[in-house]
Amino acid sequence: MGKHHVRIYRELPRAELVGVADTDGSVAELAASHDTPFHQDYRELLAQKPELVSIAVPTSLHREVALAALDAGCHLLIEKPISDTLDSATAIIDSAKERELKVFVGHVERFNPAVIALKDVITSGKLGEVHSISNLRVGAYNRRIFDTGIILDLGSHDIDLISYLYGRKAESVFALGAARVHDYEDHAAISLKFAESAAGYIELSWLSPYKVRKMFVVGTEHFGLVDLIQQSLIIYDGKDWVDTGLVQREEPLKLELASLVDAVLNDRPPEVSGEDSLYTIQVALAAIESYVKGEAVHFPEHSAAPAYPAALNANDHK
Ligand SMILES: NC(=O)c1ccc[n+]([C@@H]2O[C@H](COP(=O)([O-])OP(=O)(O)OC[C@H]3O[C@@H](n4cnc5c(N)ncnc54)[C@H](O)[C@@H]3O)[C@@H](O)[C@H]2O)c1
Repeated sequence: MGKHHVRIYRELPRAELVGVADTDGSVAELAASHDTPFHQDYRELLAQKPELVSIAVPTSLHREVALAALDAGCHLLIEKPISDTLDSATAIIDSAKERELKVFVGHVERFNPAVIALKDVITSGKLGEVHSISNLRVGAYNRRIFDTGIILDLGSHDIDLISYLYGRKAESVFALGAARVHDYEDHAAISLKFAESAAGYIELSWLSPYKVRKMFVVGTEHFGLVDLIQQSLIIYDGKDWVDTGLVQREEPLKLELASLVDAVLNDRPPEVSGEDSLYTIQVALAAIESYVKGEAVHFPEHSAAPAYPAALNANDHK
């Protein structure tokens, strides 16, 4: 993931790439190809006090690198999920607050133009009342992912997306999951219950030879279908499938990094904050607990349906 950050920072007119760090020395070639200094120890890079640091190390190392970068006075983009434990995520958020630094979390699907269009369509009421959103995210397992199961790794995208589209937090979760080819769960099915009987369903698998990233949205008036890979949104209006024509295709990571550079330069709040990602891992970890125990996990504190995302209110978007 880090190599994509490097490429895009080089392309963004309002960002200047000041260096790349990786314990793997072969990444020096990547740095050279982008004409930027390489460090095998990230602390050398932090010593230069960059304004903003992207952290794309394995999830279990986010805490160590994030706390060091905050100590060096840097705003952060941490790849999703923010961390693999609530304790680490909270430590990162608290440290950033103490230092008045921003934490952005790379829930990149939020910047997928098909999701942006879907949010508009749902908010405008075109689908009617939405009471079910189902996400299908399957594909082959990549051995590179060694430190988390599929619920934290991929499910965090869908927990975030579904909660964002409903504009509220889940009240309970029930999940099935098991491991066949990985040390942690590599396939799972998650059910989320929201206020007013709205539901979220997430099917995840690393056992599929075929890659699918789709969202099915059931509204009382229309049915929406998003293909996150193709960046398409079509709607069944009761008679025909209609292309909304609302999707302006663009690389989601480019939109994400442009948005965060803008937020740093203009002192705006993050589109996806540390608190938002803390919520997603809270639900993801509860889903893991649910499949292990075979019972639902309830979040009584979410029953008051606080707005989601947590960091923004309507005025922040104006
Ligand atoms: N937003 C997304 O869609 C998305 C997609 C893929 C990965 N990710 C996230 O990005 C993060 C990295 O995933 P990846 O697939 O790129 O993993 P990866 O294994 O391909 O890359 C991780 C890199 O970190 C380096 N590294 C390890 N320890 C380090 C240290 N102490 N200091 C500096 N570098 C170190 C490794 O050498 C490697 O080059 C994970 O948190 C993952 O969840 C997000």
